Amino acid sequence: METLLQAADQQSVAAAAALLRQGQVVGIPTETVYGLAANAMDGAAVKRIFEAKGRPQDNPLIVHIHQVEMWSQVVAEVTPQARALADAFWPGPLTIILPRGSQVSDEVCAGLDTVAVRMPSHPVARAVIAACGLPLAAPSANLSGSPSPTTAAHVMADMQGRIPMILDGGACQVGVESTVVTLAGEKPVLLRPGYITQQQLEQALGEPVELAGAVTRQLQKGEVARSPGMKYKHYAPKAEVTILKGSLENYRAYLADHSGEGVFALCFEGEEKGLETPFVTYGKADDPASQARELFGALRRLDALGAKTVYARCPGTTGVSLAVYNRLLRAAAFRVVEV
Ligand code: TXA
Ligand code: MG
Repeated sequence: METLLQAADQQSVAAAAALLRQGQVVGIPTETVYGLAANAMDGAAVKRIFEAKGRPQDNPLIVHIHQVEMWSQVVAEVTPQARALADAFWPGPLTIILPRGSQVSDEVCAGLDTVAVRMPSHPVARAVIAACGLPLAAPSANLSGSPSPTTAAHVMADMQGRIPMILDGGACQVGVESTVVTLAGEKPVLLRPGYITQQQLEQALGEPVELAGAVTRQLQKGEVARSPGMKYKHYAPKAEVTILKGSLENYRAYLADHSGEGVFALCFEGEEKGLETPFVTYGKADDPASQARELFGALRRLDALGAKTVYARCPGTTGVSLAVYNRLLRAAAFRVVEV
């Protein structure tokens, strides 16, 4: 299959919408990461997403809508709590889980009785949904297990020959996947941290939001994942990544002791000064949003440079930084060393 990479404009959006209506899979930009979209109401179309990604069938997908009216087509009921979150954060990088409706395809929910929905703010994503008039299931557009794509070139690198079209809408502004919160249980639970923080959710809901344990640690043996995505190694570059937790001074000292062939530093801008080790940076130390925007691209760059061993500077662990820490922890397979 030839994969067309097209600048997003009116014509290419219309072509993408036509493919989606035919049950095909298209790569589209969103404000978080690029997505691999298909008609959420068509099981055969959704299966093509799993095939293109090589994704385990038991990991459910997020449904993307462009207006709240579309929401009721895929969920059992839009609750007042859900409405409050949508009012506060949509369109934007928040995914809300509710009991599923009957029309959404079983493949999207992967056997669960709930469905995850979000309304993206990216104008191209919104235009594509509006043009085809369908709720679109879309996971991140990477091969399963590799870092999420934040540019159309990243999508092309993973999906060339696997899907008919990718729309190029430039680099993603947020850079990490949406915050995922479930309202399907007794209490709201934050399943995946993102740009919308736990504190912001609590403020909008007027009640506490629990943080799922698996956000900052490995699932215990026998523990059931509340979100199937927690089970899988994620975002991983080919190199072995270790997070070094501690001061910049101790980070430098550790690197000086551990340099060698294929060893790279993954640090913040400016921190490379005086390092003997080759390096890649991911944002500014005092700007978590810049770290989120650049992390996945930095992981891909390390692979391109042939890194074998990577020592990463540790981000913060609250607010937006928690999203960065959560992704980096998975890229590092939870290897953290105190320095
Ligand atoms: O920002 C994003 O959310 C991007 C863009 C493309 O919108 N999409 C994305 O999708 O990150 P994906 O499939 O890579 O991640 C979806 C996550 C997975 O961890 C999955 O397990 C979880 O959401 N999820 C989906 N439906 C769920 C459900 N019904 N219950 C619990 N977890 C669910
Ligand atoms: Mg993903």
